[in-house]
Amino acid sequence: MSAKLIDGKKMASAIREDIAEEIKVLKDEFNVVPGLAVVIVGDDPASHTYVSMKEKNCKNVGMYSEVHRLPEETSQEQLLELIHHLNENDKIHGILVQVPLPKGINENIVNSHIKPEKDVDGFHAINTGNLFLGEETIEPCTPKGIIKLIKSTGVEISGKNAVVVGRSNILGKPVAILLLHENATVTICHSKSKNLKEHLLNADIIVAAVGRPELIKGDMIKSGAVVIDAGTTVVEDKLVGDVEFDKAKEVASYITPVPGGVGPMTIAMLLENTLEAAKKKCK
Ligand code: GUN
Repeated sequence: MSAKLIDGKKMASAIREDIAEEIKVLKDEFNVVPGLAVVIVGDDPASHTYVSMKEKNCKNVGMYSEVHRLPEETSQEQLLELIHHLNENDKIHGILVQVPLPKGINENIVNSHIKPEKDVDGFHAINTGNLFLGEETIEPCTPKGIIKLIKSTGVEISGKNAVVVGRSNILGKPVAILLLHENATVTICHSKSKNLKEHLLNADIIVAAVGRPELIKGDMIKSGAVVIDAGTTVVEDKLVGDVEFDKAKEVASYITPVPGGVGPMTIAMLLENTLEAAKKKCK
């Protein structure tokens, strides 16, 4: 079998076109331009690349954007002060603080200071709590994009065995909850899991989200599985996923490439969440 590619780049591009149209309408009808503030602390090159991509994407759809690039030695207090300003700024409908943050700054505390309605990452405890409860919330961007990618295949999620590899707060845990809401039977594997291969061979849907290049080999995948690779590690100047793509594509029915799969959808979902936040403000 040779898997069909799930083209996240194409899907994200179509979503961005719709968002650009909606932004025009919002501007014409309410004189409101959705605005996103992105805050980055420190010098991590990969994070700076992601933030620049977010900035570029905002501009391309006609969204207002500001990027606050703060030095590594920024204190938590200084960061919270900036967040309080952004909370009160009417031009800003969404605030995102890029993670990881430098040592000495607590991500959860920082996220708890963002107004929940401006938390377009969906990381505030109120939003994660509502996600857990199945109530209306702002869904975290990568997990939300992953569900859309799986649905785009037409493969039914309900009743299927889904294995999520990775248990991070920003990806593994929330994507597991969203899959559960879609009635999948969900297993979360992580660095201490025994028999990863055994779990994976039972999976109809695999979401790889650990950031360990090519951890998941072709012989760990059940024939016909849907494979979503959210891993992105730079190896010798190349972006490498968590799945051994060349072998996996011979076994899977659908697979996302790296790059061009999950990554573009994350940014499209960020734009969508920011647009939704601005629309709520107009109501
Ligand atoms: N770092 C990697 N992915 C993300 C994300 O989705 N949001 C934030 N804030 N930081 C990230």
